[in-house]
Amino acid sequence: MSPVLDIQGVSVRRGRKNLLDDVTWSVAEDERWVVLGPNGAGKTTLLQIAAARLHPTVGSVQILDETLGAVDVFELRPRIGLCSNALASSMPVGERALDMVVTAAYGVTGRWREEYERLDERRAFELLNSWGVGTLFDRTFSTLSEGERKRVQIARALMTDPELLLLDEPGAGLDLAGRESLVHRTAELVAAEEAPTTVLVTHHLEEIPPGFTHVLLLREGRTVAQGPIREVLTSENLSTTFDIPLQLHEREGRFSAFATTG
Ligand SMILES: Nc1ncnc2c1ncn2[C@@H]1O[C@H](COP(=O)(O)OP(=O)(O)OP(=O)(O)O)[C@@H](O)[C@H]1O
Ligand SMILES: [Mg+2]
Repeated sequence: MSPVLDIQGVSVRRGRKNLLDDVTWSVAEDERWVVLGPNGAGKTTLLQIAAARLHPTVGSVQILDETLGAVDVFELRPRIGLCSNALASSMPVGERALDMVVTAAYGVTGRWREEYERLDERRAFELLNSWGVGTLFDRTFSTLSEGERKRVQIARALMTDPELLLLDEPGAGLDLAGRESLVHRTAELVAAEEAPTTVLVTHHLEEIPPGFTHVLLLREGRTVAQGPIREVLTSENLSTTFDIPLQLHEREGRFSAFATTG
């Protein structure tokens, strides 16, 4: 079985800076990855590539058996669910929450749009409802709180029933109950049969849902370590990645880390 995502020797250069520097990363269908790294490490850049929204300066990228550069990205993108602030800020100001979600389906339904419109709206509403923001369907996206926006963005990412789901800091701005509900929903989502292959970028180990299988640690555009979560998520690797001594803790499948003192 070929990987869902296969990134080989990828660098992204802007001016003299390498946002990503010779990254090789492969994600198989049944894997759920967490990407960790300091601010500016290149996590969002990597997800933009995985989402077929950015081409690397060098290297090759295969996404869902298609080669980036040789495929029509407008056909590929609906197969990928992306939740990211960059995407949300590119949406038209004044967009209704429901429309934020419905428009994710446009690429898929194409010329049969009108026929599917009602079905799309129903599905979008159900997704909003299941993420706890159904009552906000008619609100302008820009008037929503940060946490409410996140939930709408996740609903949008799921709208096309994607094969690959990419979540860039979905928990940022959520309150404690919201974060816990996100962690449990994501754990349920990835455990389900037919679940999409999922990649989650986060700054907080507490946000890693149980059931995630692999970790990629990035620092200054380079891979520090990658592989199965049990092997790679260690105090030592975290300390190298964040350049401070950190102690990893695990309790009932959930993680946290603290700087060691003394
Ligand atoms: N067009 C650009 N020109 C120059 N530098 C850029 C450009 N776009 C991004 N960068 C830089 O690339 C680096 C990687 O950015 P990226 O957004 O991928 O980091 P990140 O790991 O997602 O960080 P954060 O945790 O803060 O979200 C950052 O230092 C950023 O300032
Ligand atoms: Mg980022």
